[in-house]
Amino acid sequence: MIRLIAIVVAALPLSAPAQEHLNDRQLLGMRLFNQSCRVCHAKPQPTSVQYGPTLSRTSAGGNDDAMRVFISNGTAKMPGFRYHFKPAEIDAIVAYLKTIPSPD
Ligand code: HEC
Repeated sequence: MIRLIAIVVAALPLSAPAQEHLNDRQLLGMRLFNQSCRVCHAKPQPTSVQYGPTLSRTSAGGNDDAMRVFISNGTAKMPGFRYHFKPAEIDAIVAYLKTIPSPD
């Protein structure tokens, strides 16, 4: 059990630094991101390789609408989420992504 908690905590660092000043919508977006997106969009874990690009405020050209379209429709390599999330939930994820500093 302790080992399981350690693994969960170890998987969180991407979101931890920004967490303090997130508003409710951004926090919701972070939770949804952790559930549905991290698996492909987080830094490689010891047990897996990273599949998609690391996301930040500059993803999809830094354009909110482009992010929404991307998340809704997906691509050949990424599933679309328009049946999975309500529009407000996709907005929350975009709001969260906008809090992540550009990696460069
Ligand atoms: C199955 C793996 C997978 C999952 C799950 C996934 N993605 Fe992706 N995502 C990708 C891949 C791969 C790309 C690169 C696009 C391509 O090559 O088709 C991508 C690209 C993106 C981009 C565009 C990045 C850019 O700057 O071009 C955004 C934004 C994005 N994903 C957001 C999300 C969000 C938000 C979620 C969760 C709701 C999510 N993705 C879930 C694999 C995934």
